[in-house]
Amino acid sequence: RVPPPPVPDPTKIFQRGLFKGKVVLATGGGSGIVMEMVKALMQLGADAIIISRSKEKIESSAADLSRETGQKCVGFSADVRSPAQLKEAVDNGVKELGKIDFVICGAAGNFLAPISALSENAFKTVIDIDTLGTYNTVKATMEHVKRTHGAYIHVSATLHYRGLIYQAHASAAKAAVDALSQVIAVELGPFGVRSNIVAPGAIMGTVGMNKLSKKKDGEDQMGEAMLGRWGEKSDISSIACYLFSDAGAWITGQKFVVDGGELHMPPQM
Ligand code: HXC
Repeated sequence: RVPPPPVPDPTKIFQRGLFKGKVVLATGGGSGIVMEMVKALMQLGADAIIISRSKEKIESSAADLSRETGQKCVGFSADVRSPAQLKEAVDNGVKELGKIDFVICGAAGNFLAPISALSENAFKTVIDIDTLGTYNTVKATMEHVKRTHGAYIHVSATLHYRGLIYQAHASAAKAAVDALSQVIAVELGPFGVRSNIVAPGAIMGTVGMNKLSKKKDGEDQMGEAMLGRWGEKSDISSIACYLFSDAGAWITGQKFVVDGGELHMPPQM
């Protein structure tokens, strides 16, 4: 087996100042994969509006991002399940930064539960956060994004591209997110707005990984079965930079699985 592929560093791959003058808004932007996506865009010149439920966490993440990148980042607390809270956060963000070019719909909820143990409310909760939350985010931002001929990235998952145990709720929710993204692509395409799905595989150091993987620190045969390493957050932030840049200018309505090939690996014996 050859050594694992390099971990990409988008700041070394993409041109400095690539996103100068651009504003990205991200739900779920206060931690994990989405925060890393925002950070890379900011390192390449963008300013950012980040939104998540916890006021304390989002304000501290915004301060960290501003300090680490030298760009402006404002954080607002809102639950994506509440259109009124989202509208207020979006309005406040636009008041501070003037516009929205890019949106990352990244807020998500998940846990492991067999369908037999999944209450109606548990199922609905994840649908509400992931699917309704994406719809609410699109509704709250689309007029701004139409004005800038901007783009959406919806953070999906690979769960629903095959059956995965204990993931009925998240699989149904993310399948709906994929469908929404495609409709947004065709409805907003005439306004110059693009919409794509990024579906991460197992990414180290994320809430999703810690919650969903029973094994810690990548000590699992999956690490061997894929390209030789687990995913890193910068595997995902790199594709966000690609899709939001003019390299992605003719790409819309697509799904990008970024999982080191896991989805196509034969089952482990
Ligand atoms: C069964 C559960 C459960 C569990 C909660 N519930 N956790 N049922 N097993 N482990 C049930 C509750 O009992 C309740 O149903 C219902 O779900 C709502 O729970 P609440 O705690 O009231 O909801 P809320 O406070 O809104 O919290 C939502 C949450 C929580 C999803 C349950 O975990 C959360 O806020 N998560 C946000 C962060 C997160 O999970 N990020 C990970 C994303 S990872 P009843 O019937 O009792 O009322 C991801 C990537 C996936 O999406 C792909 C990875 C490879």
